Amino acid sequence: MSAALECPVLELRQASKEYPGSPPVVALDQVDLAIHSGELLAIVGPSGSGKSTLLHVMGTLDRPSRGSVLLEGRDVTDCNDADLSRLRARTIGFVFQQFFLLEGSTALDNVATGLLYRERDMTPAERREHAAAALEQVGLGHRLFHRPGELSGGERQRVAIARALVGKPALVLADEPTGNLDSVSGGRILDLLLELHGAGVTIAVITHDREVADRLGRRIMLRDGRIEDDLVPGRAA
Ligand SMILES: Nc1ncnc2c1ncn2[C@@H]1O[C@H](COP(=O)(O)OP(=O)(O)O)[C@@H](O)[C@H]1O
Ligand SMILES: [Mg+2]
Repeated sequence: MSAALECPVLELRQASKEYPGSPPVVALDQVDLAIHSGELLAIVGPSGSGKSTLLHVMGTLDRPSRGSVLLEGRDVTDCNDADLSRLRARTIGFVFQQFFLLEGSTALDNVATGLLYRERDMTPAERREHAAAALEQVGLGHRLFHRPGELSGGERQRVAIARALVGKPALVLADEPTGNLDSVSGGRILDLLLELHGAGVTIAVITHDREVADRLGRRIMLRDGRIEDDLVPGRAA
């Protein structure tokens, strides 16, 4: 089956997001976007263009004011919060600029928490086994029992990426994943994301960093809450 016929992993249809105020802020304005399995894409745009809002709506962490969100073909617009968090846990892995690791827990347990809401039938030992494999995959097999305070920034972000990956999500959403890193560590995190993409992981990276975007594939440019351009490499504009 060709990629065009498969249903997208994630789709937004005329999704708008307004924040209340006088006047209200239109942070997303009738966005249509489809992400297919196996894609690696960058979402770029100046500060305030709506990138984080888009990530929250794509990740079902926030609901659009109008329009709809489909996960693997299923319209989740009217799902209740409990159903939505279950679906989200099964479908999407998140990576944030600030890592959001539990400071008191080892790398292994930080990653194992990524399975808590997804694999309710797994024993803690099974969750740790999967966590160890995910840490191995991001090159941290030798740091399983380190706590975040004992890791470099780049290593912390690897732990966060392992936590996002451990449940084998259909899509990984990363918001400025290199934003808190020096350029060398940031470059290595990017190498890792490219490698994971090569291994079949579908990844959307939000970034205002041109150099990061230049190394990714498809590029979606946001301005004032609208998609201004959607460039797919190798496809004539
Ligand atoms: N919770 C909020 N309440 C009101 N306005 C917001 C809120 N979050 C973001 N905005 C506004 O929405 C617009 C888009 O913000 P954001 O999605 O954070 O952009 P970006 O991530 O590209 O910098 C900005 O004008 C911002 O000020
Ligand atoms: Mg932002």
